[in-house]
Formats: sequence, structure tokens, C-alpha cells
Amino acid sequence: MSDFEQKVREALASPQNQGEIADADAVGTVGSPDCGDMLRMWLKFTEKDGKRVIDRASFQSFGCQTAIAVASMATELLKGKTAEEARELSANELTGDLGPLPPMKIHCGQLVEGALKNALDQTPAATSATPVGTTLSE
Ligand code: FES
Ligand code: FES
Repeated sequence: MSDFEQKVREALASPQNQGEIADADAVGTVGSPDCGDMLRMWLKFTEKDGKRVIDRASFQSFGCQTAIAVASMATELLKGKTAEEARELSANELTGDLGPLPPMKIHCGQLVEGALKNALDQTPAATSATPVGTTLSE
């Protein structure tokens, strides 16, 4: 078993942040034309030190083991990031310690990145930090 396969196997033994966030601020969904897999990501924001940051991120993946492992890693890495910071993360960065992905699996990381970007696109209000001292009106 390759080093990569070993790391994916370890991540799948206890995947983090699986399932819907019922009160999520954003949901993003993408499908991969390369393999037919689908991934959905939920984001919940909170206010911290005058900034709007990701409090929780979760995902559901249909099928692909590598995408599950990457999404598990990515949803952990996203905690505490602003929408702008999250948007700047590449598929490779979201893959964290699992990477670099082997060439055949690069699209699995891109699937996670795509779901994240799609979720961020759904939250125009979340893309700017709320000025300190103001209240969010929903
Ligand atoms: Fe899902 Fe890639 S087709 S494992
Ligand atoms: Fe398609 Fe992993 S093989 S997302």
C-alpha cells in the first residue's frame, strides 16, 4: 500500500464533520464530470474578534473514498477562516497532510474545492467581514 493509500485509509477510519449542518449559512454542491461523484458542503459562520469566520464545515460525499478523506481534512482546516481566506485555498492546500494527491486522484481534491467555492458563492453576506460594533440584520 502506498503512503497516500495509507493516509486515506487512516482518514476514513474516523472521518470528521460528515453530514448536514441543519442551520448552515451556505450549502454548495458539485458533481465531477470525471467520475460521476457528487459532493455537498455546508458552512456555518460565527463572529469572532470582529470578523465573520467559519465556525463549522461539514460534507457529504457519494462514492469516492479519496474525496471523503480530503473533505474530512478540508472541513477541519476551514474552521476559523474568513470567507475570503477560504476562497483562496487551493485544492492542494485543502488536501492538507493527505497530499499531494496522485495524478489519478487530483480531481477528487478539486471536487472538494469546487463544493467549497460553490458554498461561498451562495453566501454573499458572508464574503465581507462585519464591521465591529454593528449588528447583522438578517
Ligand atoms: Fe468515485 Fe472515483 S468514481 S471513486
Ligand atoms: Fe472522482 Fe474521487 S474518483 S472524486
